[in-house]
Amino acid sequence: MLTAEMNDRLTRVGPGTPMGELMRRYWHPIAGSIQLNDDNPTKEVRLLGEDLVLFRSAAGKLGLIEPSCAHRKANLSYGIPEPEGIRCAYHGWLYDVNGQCVDQPSEPEGSRFKEKVKLKAYKAEELGGLIFAYMGPEPAPLLPRWDILVWDGIRSATSVKLACNWLQCHENSLDPLHFQWLHRYYGGWVMNRKKPAAERDEWNSRTMSKGAEHRKIGFEITDYGVIKRRLIGDETEDDDNWKLGHPILFPHILRNGDTLQYRIPIDDTHTDHLVLSHKFLKDGEETNEGNVPFENVSAYYEDGRLRDDYVRGQDQTAWVIQGAIMDRTTERLGVSDVGLIMFRRMLDEQARIVEDGGEPMNVYRDPAENEIHIFPVERRAYPGYEGTGGPFKDITPRKPDVETILSGEGAKLSQWKK
Ligand code: FES
Ligand SMILES: [Fe+2]
Repeated sequence: MLTAEMNDRLTRVGPGTPMGELMRRYWHPIAGSIQLNDDNPTKEVRLLGEDLVLFRSAAGKLGLIEPSCAHRKANLSYGIPEPEGIRCAYHGWLYDVNGQCVDQPSEPEGSRFKEKVKLKAYKAEELGGLIFAYMGPEPAPLLPRWDILVWDGIRSATSVKLACNWLQCHENSLDPLHFQWLHRYYGGWVMNRKKPAAERDEWNSRTMSKGAEHRKIGFEITDYGVIKRRLIGDETEDDDNWKLGHPILFPHILRNGDTLQYRIPIDDTHTDHLVLSHKFLKDGEETNEGNVPFENVSAYYEDGRLRDDYVRGQDQTAWVIQGAIMDRTTERLGVSDVGLIMFRRMLDEQARIVEDGGEPMNVYRDPAENEIHIFPVERRAYPGYEGTGGPFKDITPRKPDVETILSGEGAKLSQWKK
């Protein structure tokens, strides 16, 4: 259970809040590159409790500025892109990508009024088919080059807007046990009623094995976040699930399978679950760089119920049904929840670093270090390597910082390192 103060501290993301200020130290994907084109040069965006307008100038530069024109507040998502920036639809004031007003056609010749007019503006950059925003203090860190944003291949992205706080979405990644219940048991119950035989059988064979009984879970803190490990069914510590596990990149990304799953705080009660998927090229295939599909997907069926007939849909359902902001003052955590207790401590600790004027973890400023970040992920093949595990296949994992034996020994929270 958390105090109400701590629940607020970890969940509220508006300007000036501890979590909002921590989140402002990271780059967040806010759109697909293909969403901004000649037909649609602007996009309204809401991120960390702020409304913004994203645009691409006629010269191809990205701008991310406050939405209302400084003159008489017309929304700039109706602006016209020009080489220098975006021109307001109402009286033609022109703003560059830094939010500086550079033209006021109705003011007298020689007026310097425009020099005094500047909109709030943030940085926007593109990588891997996505457009990212940075809303924190300058100088901005480098946009992290996570492996599947950078590897050659075929990428695609989906975005699902969810009516709930970001943390209950992301805590799911520190909660391995949900797989055997939410996906195997509930998911099986849903799928076996809703799906035709072939799809049902496929689901049962695939998900039943992945959702086998958990015997042990462990979490290791790394400099980029957390590695999550589990022992399920009759697996041993030499199996990928334990030996490699998969990473949770601080503060809000799951790197799992062929995906990066971002849980982006739109505001206190809305989250964008943005998933970038990647496939390595087969012989004769070419990368789709410059044309990465981006699809907005609804979280709901037509009857208003949450979509629960696929694995991520079940996750999303579980997140939303906890309420707009989950009440952690009355929750009852058990030994299987050690991962999320550890993660909450990390969040609190990293927010404190920002409050004390420091730089939080997983922020990059050295281009050599940021060239590409390749992560261990169970059952994955890597370019240049035969088989799975790639550069990580022979590693011996160190002892988890937090480990729970689910057969009765209980949580070893005391091992959590300070
Ligand atoms: S409201 Fe934008 S130029 Fe007047
Ligand atoms: Fe899940």
